Amino acid sequence: MTMHASVTSGLGEKIAQSIHAQGGWIGFDDFMAQALYTPQSGYYARQTQKFGWMAPGSGRLSGGDFVTAPELSPLFGRTLARQVAEALTQTDTDCVWEFGAGTGQMALQILQGLQALGHALPRYRVVELSAALRALQQKTLAAFVDRVDWVDSLPERMQGVVLGNELIDAMPVKLLNRVDGVWHERGVSLGVPDPSSRAPLVWQDRPTALRPPFAVAGEHDYLTEIHEQGEAFVRTLGEKLLKGAVFLIDYGFPEAQYYHPQRHMGTLMCHHLHRADTDPLSLVGEKDITAHVNFTGLALAGQEVGLEVLGYCNQAHFLINCGFAQELSQLDQAGRVMAQRLIMEHEMGELFKCMAWVKGPAWHAMGFSHGDKTHTL
Ligand SMILES: C[S@@+](CC[C@H](N)C(=O)[O-])C[C@H]1O[C@@H](n2cnc3c(N)ncnc32)[C@H](O)[C@@H]1O
Repeated sequence: MTMHASVTSGLGEKIAQSIHAQGGWIGFDDFMAQALYTPQSGYYARQTQKFGWMAPGSGRLSGGDFVTAPELSPLFGRTLARQVAEALTQTDTDCVWEFGAGTGQMALQILQGLQALGHALPRYRVVELSAALRALQQKTLAAFVDRVDWVDSLPERMQGVVLGNELIDAMPVKLLNRVDGVWHERGVSLGVPDPSSRAPLVWQDRPTALRPPFAVAGEHDYLTEIHEQGEAFVRTLGEKLLKGAVFLIDYGFPEAQYYHPQRHMGTLMCHHLHRADTDPLSLVGEKDITAHVNFTGLALAGQEVGLEVLGYCNQAHFLINCGFAQELSQLDQAGRVMAQRLIMEHEMGELFKCMAWVKGPAWHAMGFSHGDKTHTL
């Protein structure tokens, strides 16, 4: 058992109560769901600035905890809009569904991009768990108030083009820990209180029948994640989508790379004030918690429900295939410097991937015209 920071916050109290109520232990997925999404006090539910950016080389922060592609440069959504226009036409649908829309910047960029392309504006539906972010999105998208609406629950049947940027990485994961050759599920428990404070949140491992979906070579100790909720999300989408396409962009790898024997500390990461750390049990509710995406797992989940993979490639290829260069030429020098970070190999170009599926007849989507890596999944 490793000791961690004391449970002092209101959210910490709530989590401690749920640990008590469940017999002294909760799985990490339960902990992560509570830490991020508890109404009012969870990280994504709180009224604090999360999204920001850091100017290259200058070390200057614009606030927030982390930066995402649409916050870094409007070129992200503007370029994606070209693929969205093609997908709406090819699937003969007129609705975009964006899950986890953050500040609303990507939606704004896409709607402006579609307008600039002369494409008929679709209905734009946002699915957002956080009331605080929804309020922010409503401000950002005020100019498109007649096109955009927010939905609380998904209808039985959907059609259209589904989008999610850095969505799956924010979904709760389970932790698996191989110790001395025996697999455990890593969860959260309460340690011994010291006289001046409440019981701290501590890690606790329990033997489990769960296994990573890909055999991890070797016998060495190995901590990793499995992504039941992300995969269930893709299954739900596939079941509900009558016709349309899905584009998910996120950081991650195919399973052979994800469960590489050398990745023995997993990919779980927290972000707070633009610093990364690996301790989700401290500053609960104040920092983002995230894990990389296993794209093979998502592809297989989609296959089970009739979603056919349209393509899978890194973000640099995807954006360049969609017309990044044409969009770039419309920016000034400072704008270009920021936009380039979307495609640079050591920034977002290689680690981030785009995976797309279709329900209905497939077509050669522009985003995957070069550099498609579906065969590596
Ligand atoms: C890392 S943020 C990314 C935000 C935005 N897409 C961007 O790129 O700036 C993750 C977002 O996913 C949302 N989210 C997580 N799970 C979700 C779900 N099941 N349905 C809808 N939104 C979800 C969070 O509330 C948050 O807005």
